[in-house]
Amino acid sequence: MGHTFDEDFSIRDPQDRGIRLLEEERRRIARDLHDGPIQVLINLSMRLQIVQRMMLTDSKLADEELQRIQQRLTGSINEIRQLIYDLQPVAIDEIGLIAAVTSLFNRITQDTGLTCHLTIDEALKEKPLALSPARTIGTYRLIQEALSNIRKHAQAESVTIALSTRDSSLKLTIHDDGIGFDPATRLSGHFGLATMIERAEYMGGSGEIHSTAGQGTRLIFFVPLDNHVA
Ligand SMILES: Nc1ncnc2c1ncn2[C@@H]1O[C@H](COP(=O)(O)OP(=O)(O)OP(=O)(O)O)[C@@H](O)[C@H]1O
Ligand SMILES: [Mg+2]
Repeated sequence: MGHTFDEDFSIRDPQDRGIRLLEEERRRIARDLHDGPIQVLINLSMRLQIVQRMMLTDSKLADEELQRIQQRLTGSINEIRQLIYDLQPVAIDEIGLIAAVTSLFNRITQDTGLTCHLTIDEALKEKPLALSPARTIGTYRLIQEALSNIRKHAQAESVTIALSTRDSSLKLTIHDDGIGFDPATRLSGHFGLATMIERAEYMGGSGEIHSTAGQGTRLIFFVPLDNHVA
């Protein structure tokens, strides 16, 4: 896929940024579907053709293979369900960011064994988070991508997400104890980190990446709190 987004990250036009964020998200969905479920279905379709022939020669073997195909199909259905769930995560505006993150944590711990901690500043616990629905979803997307990176790359044992306030912004820190990396190295065709920074800036905030090979990764984001909760 030819176009790279990072060349024009300096563009400040908010409408342009919004559109690019959407396009980037679509690109990811297309890639996730292509790399995951589609590959599995192609594979299963070929295996079914083989089973068809096998049935004439060795029906017992064919039966066993059919059971394996059935299992893989179930796995693939779950994977697609997961992709759909991630597209429209639980009604965040109803249950709130913290409950949504807790539910994401539970799922990740169940799937991967990664230990997840959430620490929330006392001041934030006193009243509902003053984040508009758009910023609430945007912040959730930051957490989602950070956790997806941790699962894919970090080889971490634990992750801690901390929420606090600073200068009328929400401060979000995501810290893992994994292998770390050199943030100065930009990999072409990898947009997750750049999109996270862009998303934070689009919400009127900012983002920082701190990581050293062998010493884990810490992402820090600031998202302006809203005076009026919509
Ligand atoms: N928490 C982390 N621990 C270790 N390495 C990381 C972590 N997060 C990112 N990286 C490294 O930084 C690279 C860039 O991350 P980025 O999210 O931009 O792209 P990606 O995850 O490889 O692909 P994409 O996000 O586009 O699916 C990763 O390929 C990985 O090498
Ligand atoms: Mg990524």
